[in-house]
Amino acid sequence: MRQGYSGEGPHRSYCLDPAALDVLAAFLPGLGQRVRSWEELVVTTDAAGGMTIREATVADAPAIAHIYNQGIEDRVATLETAVRTAAERAEWVAARGRRHPVLVAVNGDGVVAGWGSLNPFNPRPVYDHVADFSVYVAREQRGKGIGDALLAALEDRARALGYHKLVLAAFPTNAPGMRLYERHGFVTVGIYHEHGRLDGHWIDVIVMEKLLG
Ligand SMILES: CC(C)(COP(=O)(O)OP(=O)(O)OC[C@H]1O[C@@H](n2cnc3c(N)ncnc32)[C@H](O)[C@@H]1OP(=O)(O)O)[C@@H](O)C(=O)NCCC(=O)NCCS
Repeated sequence: MRQGYSGEGPHRSYCLDPAALDVLAAFLPGLGQRVRSWEELVVTTDAAGGMTIREATVADAPAIAHIYNQGIEDRVATLETAVRTAAERAEWVAARGRRHPVLVAVNGDGVVAGWGSLNPFNPRPVYDHVADFSVYVAREQRGKGIGDALLAALEDRARALGYHKLVLAAFPTNAPGMRLYERHGFVTVGIYHEHGRLDGHWIDVIVMEKLLG
């Protein structure tokens, strides 16, 4: 197991030895995008019945848009109200730099069940060591450990990229989200009260952080 991996999460495992992946990565021109290192290649978990977590490509954009739009429409996750198109998400994926990856959780049939991303926190260089993140699981796939696996993969990737801290802003009423973040050791920084106005209602926003150590 790679140094820096805590092994936290009882179901997580790598499908290949890291050294073998370094060799493999050099011979994978057909992946649809450049593979920069074994860390970006693939991580597997059996937490959700053999899910694979891998780097997203533009081909995943329709699924990413579909899952994001479910999160937007459910009104439990985000103050975003504008639904996205596959074309818009394809541009979004294509524009991501190395430090801001998008990961997808894919089931054994190749269906994308969830996605997560490391996002810029603030463009000022003093905040280069801080990343915000997103995690969204398809409606019918929630509660099966996919969010847990995606967040673990995002944390691992953040450490590998040298981030010092992850932060998030969420609805304190989002019970699965709160449980997920607390389980992963995120602590509350504070709550913005009546911070957003969604469908005519005031929404509190909780800010949480985790030092990656
Ligand atoms: C929040 C979300 C990412 C969690 O992913 P998930 O795959 O459903 O969650 P998991 O199955 O990995 O479960 C994570 C934890 O939440 C708990 N949980 C799951 N569903 C729950 C529910 N409805 N109520 C309370 N806790 C719940 C699980 O028990 C688990 O905790 P445990 O390991 O201590 O038992 C997912 O529900 C989702 O995409 N929701 C809509 C979008 C969203 O809210 N994104 C987060 C934006 S801040």
